[in-house]
Amino acid sequence: MLNQRYAAIDQGTTGTRVVVFGEDGKHFSPAAIAHKQLTPNPGWVEHDPMEILRNIRTCISQCGVVDAMGLAHQGESVVAWDAQSGLPLYNAIIWQDQRTESVLRRLRAEGVEETVRAKTGLPLDTYFSGSKLGWIMRNVPGADELSRRGQLRLGTMDSFFMFHLCGTHVTDYNSASRTSLFNIHTLQWDEELCRIFGVPITALPEIRDNIGHFGDVTCSGNTTPLTACIVDQFAGTYGHGCLQPGQMKITFGTGAFLQSITGTVVPDAQGSGLLPTLCWKLPGEPPLYGLDGGVYNAASAINWAKKIGLYSDIEEFSDFPDQPAIARGLAFIPALSGLGCPYWDRSAAGLWAGLSLETERKDMLQSILEGIAMRSAEVIYAMDKVRPIGDTISVDGGLSANLYFKQFLASLIQKRIVTPSNREITAQGVALLARKGLGNAHPMNVSTQHVTTEPAERDLSPYFAKYKDIISRSRNLRSE
Ligand code: G3P
Repeated sequence: MLNQRYAAIDQGTTGTRVVVFGEDGKHFSPAAIAHKQLTPNPGWVEHDPMEILRNIRTCISQCGVVDAMGLAHQGESVVAWDAQSGLPLYNAIIWQDQRTESVLRRLRAEGVEETVRAKTGLPLDTYFSGSKLGWIMRNVPGADELSRRGQLRLGTMDSFFMFHLCGTHVTDYNSASRTSLFNIHTLQWDEELCRIFGVPITALPEIRDNIGHFGDVTCSGNTTPLTACIVDQFAGTYGHGCLQPGQMKITFGTGAFLQSITGTVVPDAQGSGLLPTLCWKLPGEPPLYGLDGGVYNAASAINWAKKIGLYSDIEEFSDFPDQPAIARGLAFIPALSGLGCPYWDRSAAGLWAGLSLETERKDMLQSILEGIAMRSAEVIYAMDKVRPIGDTISVDGGLSANLYFKQFLASLIQKRIVTPSNREITAQGVALLARKGLGNAHPMNVSTQHVTTEPAERDLSPYFAKYKDIISRSRNLRSE
């Protein structure tokens, strides 16, 4: 048995952690550091990339000697930097940032949405990277001049970190596929897409397989190969063991992130509102594709309820009556940042329907959980239609600890929900990939223990129909 150790760097939206795995699957997390959330204007979300880079270095310095490292990152967030100084030209613009909505509205009016969707699988939504990089090119002094001198570097945040950690300007197929600039059929950056978004193609990184030798990281006197890079949500998919067509996972984080595996051909998701996505590409193999569907608000809705004083302790999201709140007429649409998949409608707003003088605070909490579950169910139904998913769905993230939530969701979709006992699913995915990237082919001994939630024999579909009616009323509610 090998005696190697792997460090998974989990660089997420709210913080950076490192988790060290041994061959026996045992793991520990020596460091976790939160970073500042900068919101300079309404709808804008930025991070300081140098702050996060320092946090990554601090985390790595706590790992001791490891044989390989892998990087999971926050997906669609972008950075622009100067190749000579390595310094960012502007803060990282985060996936949640909505500053480019008016640009996308113009592009929709110009009729390019179908071109973008056909080449990338993605709708014109502020979620993705292309319009954010275009914003930098138009608004950040010096970006254009650096680009003309061949000195500008652009990319999702993984490429910025790898530039500093390994001295390379690279990304991976999965990360590239979240940008709106990458053609998922040709597997290359696309000239036409770059023109549409105003992004110089020459400033983009080289795209590599998700595992392999991305470069060497030197820290505290140790030099370690970085052998995997992937968006955190897809690291989670891999970590859940969703590797075969029909398997699916949901991560309940800030939003609900749903991914299912479809196979080695780009799935035809036309008209479904789902995003055909390249999950990962391993050396010598065709890419593995899947369907992706994001619900913008999950934990963010729970946190918002706390902020406005609806509860003070998360334990209050328990001990609900058996009868769902929606059965008593109360429904919550968690469109606090608009509606993601399958609507992609930023004009939608959060909505409570069915309030009365009898409504209690506790009913409102119950309806928040049901609203998030029903938004997730919408995506699951859509996925099931495009490529049938199995009878089990694997879940992780904060809400996966809530028994009422899981039972409601399982009964609604009539599928078994499993929750791995290992809470480090994203890190486990990166560690497994990093290990594979080092050339260790035989399986690692990771824990397969989980908790199962069986669907109740109860027909919740009439409530779902009611909810669908209410959701239509949440659209076009947001003021410009
Ligand atoms: O698509 C955004 C997603 O990858 C961010 O995930 O866990 O960093 O909030 P997280």
